[in-house]
Amino acid sequence: MRKVLCVIGTRPEAIKMAPVIRALKNSNSFTTKVLATGQHTDMLKQALEDFGIAPDFNLNIMRNAQTLDHITSSVLAKTGDYLDSEHNDFVLVHGDTSTTFAASLAAFYRKIPVAHVEAGLRSHDKYLPFPEEMNRVLTDRISEIFFAPTENAAENLRNEHVNPEKIFVTGNTVIDALFEILKLNQNIPEFMRELDNQPFVLMTAHRRESWGEPLLEICAAVRDILAARPDVKFLIPLHKNPIVRDVIKSELQNNISNVIFTEPLNYPDFTFAMSKCRFILSDSGGVQEEASAINKPVLIMRTLSERPEAIDHGTGVLVGTNRKIIRETTLEILNNESFLKKILSKNTKPFGNGTASQKILSVLENYHARQA
Ligand code: UD1
Ligand code: UDP
Repeated sequence: MRKVLCVIGTRPEAIKMAPVIRALKNSNSFTTKVLATGQHTDMLKQALEDFGIAPDFNLNIMRNAQTLDHITSSVLAKTGDYLDSEHNDFVLVHGDTSTTFAASLAAFYRKIPVAHVEAGLRSHDKYLPFPEEMNRVLTDRISEIFFAPTENAAENLRNEHVNPEKIFVTGNTVIDALFEILKLNQNIPEFMRELDNQPFVLMTAHRRESWGEPLLEICAAVRDILAARPDVKFLIPLHKNPIVRDVIKSELQNNISNVIFTEPLNYPDFTFAMSKCRFILSDSGGVQEEASAINKPVLIMRTLSERPEAIDHGTGVLVGTNRKIIRETTLEILNNESFLKKILSKNTKPFGNGTASQKILSVLENYHARQA
């Protein structure tokens, strides 16, 4: 049997790789191990537990308010040590985090082929999102097999002269994860009691390019919105990063009667919140994809997105981090039902239909059968 190592480090990698890990573990063609770099600690553990997955090995690299140099150098060195200690036929990575890039580089240094799930997304601006755009580009330079979630991502790879025979359009595995969780019998989360049937906006923010002034603008926009619409509440599951959470908490401390802060929600509770909120305000990548699958508007707090499919679909609206634009777009949606109706009429699923992980498995089985 071929030996595959799945390397994951952060919450979205856990959620998006969970269906792939499960499919590989159920296959007779592979022996599959999961290496957690520990770039995230509790947030990674929480997401994996939601899918009943435990890492086989954890590098535990996280530090408080860690630097990119720290993540990259420690994942490179420690993943390298791990790869030297165990034979692996190939390494599977996901997305665009510093874990993704550094683990791919460690595999490359040992001439172990890398398969990249969620390959090919591009904003074409090396600083947006930062450092993820370049992490993804560099991982794609190293990779041997490319799982592009959409035709557009595959086109980006072909434009960079990647061999078309090595590109496979699969849909995004986050849709597999989302559909799996939505099928479960859901307990009503605790925060719903506090919301008391009032309309609410779900907000998440964490991006490095938003640290500092942009995050202050976002918080000022939330204060403006609450001043104009005191009947609305904000549900804000705070990211664990102190650089982000401390600012949001202190900037919104005077609005506490209309703002509900929570710790990072487990995936079932977060998907519940996505389905019940009026709309989402977020700078997250994965949330843009999930929102399109459940026809929920998401105002994207970025100036451009490497997921143009969400914007073409109509659920994603770019608002950047400008206070006035966020305030005006939000109030327009809250005051104008027809905007919501237009979005709710969409039936397409731009990021796939929940079968991405099975497609990835059959590509890997065929690929390795050909090589045997
Ligand atoms: C990372 C990824 C980003 C991804 C995001 C998902 C990089 C450079 N960034 O960003 O692409 O969108 O994860 O959430 O790869 N922390 C904890 N506990 C946790 C997780 C984080 O305390 O479980 C705190 C730590 O102080 C840590 C800080 O958050 O140093 C930042 O974590 P880091 O992984 O560097 O960046 P993220 O913003 O989480
Ligand atoms: N998510 C979650 N709990 C939360 C916030 C987000 O489970 O409190 C999920 C969300 O549904 C999505 C993923 O985490 O699947 C997105 O993670 P994040 O925004 O941290 O990273 P990004 O997608 O921007 O890389």
